[in-house]
Amino acid sequence: MDVYASLVDAVGGTPLVRLNRVTGALTAPVFAKLEYVNPGGSVKDRAAVAMVDAAEEAGLLRPGGTVVEGTSGNTGAGLAMVAAQRGYRCVFAIPDKSSGEKIALLRAYGAEVVVCPSGVPREHPDHVHETAARIAAETPGAWHADQYDNPANPLAHYRGTGPEIWRQTEGRVTHLVAGVGTGGTITGTGEYLKEVSDGRVTVVGADPEASVYSGGDGRPYFVESIGHFVHPETVEDLWPSSYHPPVVDRFETIPDRESLLTARRLAREEGLLAGGSAGTAVAAALRIAAGLGPDDLVVVLLPDSGRNYLSKVHDDGWLRRWGFLDSDGALPSVGDARITAVGPHVRPTDTVEESLATARKAGLLDGDTVLVTTVALRPDRPVMAPEVIGAVSAERLRAAVESGTARGGDPVASHAAPALPLVGRGESAAAALAALEEQAAEAAVVLLDGKVHGVVGRSALRTAMG
Ligand SMILES: Cc1ncc(COP(=O)(O)O)c(C=O)c1O
Repeated sequence: MDVYASLVDAVGGTPLVRLNRVTGALTAPVFAKLEYVNPGGSVKDRAAVAMVDAAEEAGLLRPGGTVVEGTSGNTGAGLAMVAAQRGYRCVFAIPDKSSGEKIALLRAYGAEVVVCPSGVPREHPDHVHETAARIAAETPGAWHADQYDNPANPLAHYRGTGPEIWRQTEGRVTHLVAGVGTGGTITGTGEYLKEVSDGRVTVVGADPEASVYSGGDGRPYFVESIGHFVHPETVEDLWPSSYHPPVVDRFETIPDRESLLTARRLAREEGLLAGGSAGTAVAAALRIAAGLGPDDLVVVLLPDSGRNYLSKVHDDGWLRRWGFLDSDGALPSVGDARITAVGPHVRPTDTVEESLATARKAGLLDGDTVLVTTVALRPDRPVMAPEVIGAVSAERLRAAVESGTARGGDPVASHAAPALPLVGRGESAAAALAALEEQAAEAAVVLLDGKVHGVVGRSALRTAMG
């Protein structure tokens, strides 16, 4: 048995476990590296320890100092664990997209947490990164870990994760599959494995479908901590320097539904309780393995535990609410009701006149709902639930112009009602109706795979219930 002088020494050395059931008839072995076994609960323990060590060595972090970081949660947990041991104070900026469990976890370690809005451009003062940088600048004795641009982050994987995988597979690994958040994991691990194998290891990035890393349009997505989202109003889209794009030989782009349902399958079929980004990585690994044979060996990284997401990825109610899980057929569902198509989406800055023209061009019937969304650059792309900021019908707009309460040149957002309630297509019709009644709304936006699918009214739900 290994005995450690400090918890920090127990970081790394995680198990490599063969997947046996989700792999079905595949002949190429797929091994999962269980990074959630790290003492702080995720792969980010490795980067956290390495960054603190480097900062102490460089004299940037001194006794009594404060560790500051912008984090989706896991780097914060790793840093908080080290800080608790070494007597540093911690302040973390975390996006409101991160699960409640992650926020509670940071507070459990004694950290201070500032929750920041997810849907703001990179330059906005409330953006996670801007918030962390400001707190660090304003706090005496503070050190900003800055995992996105800290060379100690990829180096931790070059020195730890990569050599471990090489040793554990006795040099037989042929493919590495991992998600890309800051890029530290895939960069350090991938560069090491390529070097040690004389370039025989293929590095595969597992990316959310919408992420710009793999060429997506940067719209929002539901999997946390990986990929790269770009707010439409972001002026300069900066990529982290912890990520070295040439390390990735190819990408597999995975839709949210496939990521989330793969994470669910891992728990139910393999007993591996992991997070959504592990679902993305395993979904990509299964696709890659389908084209390989018994002489290949795929290693896929599972970054964190499903315990971080018991209220999200691993909650059937949450999955159904966002349209990721279909009805189990036991009760009439929203999908059984008459769902009306949503009119074309308009930008909040479009004028009332322009919005009415858009509605007319689309041949909208009176009373159809025109949604106002935050999509400023590409209103033609699929609209994700978080992008909907309000709703208005063509009929209401026309009436407002006729009665003089709206002028043709007003921005449509100033005449839109708050966004309609959201219901998932797989939810029971009774639960959706109850939600509408509770919120005193006549209609709800129906979601499928986290995207706007249509609108359903109370009477349509009642009819479906029979
Ligand atoms: C759950 C989870 N998955 C994946 C990643 C991505 O790892 P990296 O930042 O090394 O690219 C992170 C990083 O925070 C994470 O927390």
